[in-house]
Amino acid sequence: MELSSPLEGKRLAVIGVGAMGSALVRGLIQSGKVKPEQIVAADIDPSRLAAVQALGVLTTNDNKSAVQQSEIVLLCVKPQVMDEVLADIAPVTDPKKHCVISIAAGVPIARIEASLPQGTPVIRVMPNTPAQVLAGASAIALGTNADESQRKIAREIFSAVGLVVDVPEKLMDAVTALSGSGPAYVFVFAEALADAGVNLGLPRDVALKLAAQTLLGAAKMLLETGKHPAELKDMVTSPGGTTIAALSVLEQHAFRGAIMEAIAAAHQRAKELAKSSGE
Ligand SMILES: NC(=O)c1ccc[n+]([C@@H]2O[C@H](COP(=O)([O-])OP(=O)(O)OC[C@H]3O[C@@H](n4cnc5c(N)ncnc54)[C@H](OP(=O)(O)O)[C@@H]3O)[C@@H](O)[C@H]2O)c1
Repeated sequence: MELSSPLEGKRLAVIGVGAMGSALVRGLIQSGKVKPEQIVAADIDPSRLAAVQALGVLTTNDNKSAVQQSEIVLLCVKPQVMDEVLADIAPVTDPKKHCVISIAAGVPIARIEASLPQGTPVIRVMPNTPAQVLAGASAIALGTNADESQRKIAREIFSAVGLVVDVPEKLMDAVTALSGSGPAYVFVFAEALADAGVNLGLPRDVALKLAAQTLLGAAKMLLETGKHPAELKDMVTSPGGTTIAALSVLEQHAFRGAIMEAIAAAHQRAKELAKSSGE
């Protein structure tokens, strides 16, 4: 017997269908977790609305109307316009009917709760851009009024675009520094791998394909075997071989230390931005 989905019979308002909002809409439809007519997309940009309308979802330029038609409200606007959007939807938000999920980086749950009617369930999620290719990594934190059934709803939505983990809100800046900004570190690494290949005579397109597939394959091995990365590294590192020659150079240049320091800097910056956005 098929277990019923926590999204069954519910309508989702997606407020802001830019890069991330539209990726969520696409993922939800592609995964079959919701039917297009269960989604109502709201945005001030008609071209963004036209793009998702082509997928069969309902569209409106009125955030309030989208909220009134829905039980789940996904806030996918930029942090800078969050206060404006919250003020707009607060009068039509019903704590008994709605669950509000925000993906805005650096906007604390307490600030969202304070802008909405008392008792409104709020969930904060930090996704990343690979959500656009259904391979995202999202972390979920519950607000004071959200319960486990609402956590299931958030998990169901974000698992449509990749992997989902639960964290307490105080770790959201760490998530931002690791997986939120992480794709950029990996792109720089991929570019360096490809440049190295080109330096050794490989055509650029071949080098880039080999680099990208190597990253994808290594990541899949980590996730699918559950083995420690050091064990997987040891498996390809034969005595006196090519791999250990390369690893030895990476160690001389403090490769791992550089990555840890870089992510600590991103963490520090996320904390500063969260603090200044609340002032
Ligand atoms: N992209 C990422 O990697 C990523 C990762 C994690 C979290 N996030 C979070 O996701 C959120 C969205 O980011 P994004 O990259 O998808 O931004 P985006 O592409 O700019 O999308 C936001 C959309 O919201 C629209 N909008 C602006 N004001 C609005 C309003 N008052 N009512 C309704 N819609 C409005 C924007 O229209 P205009 O363009 O006309 O302003 C745009 O179409 C941000 O809070 C960000 O922190 C993004």
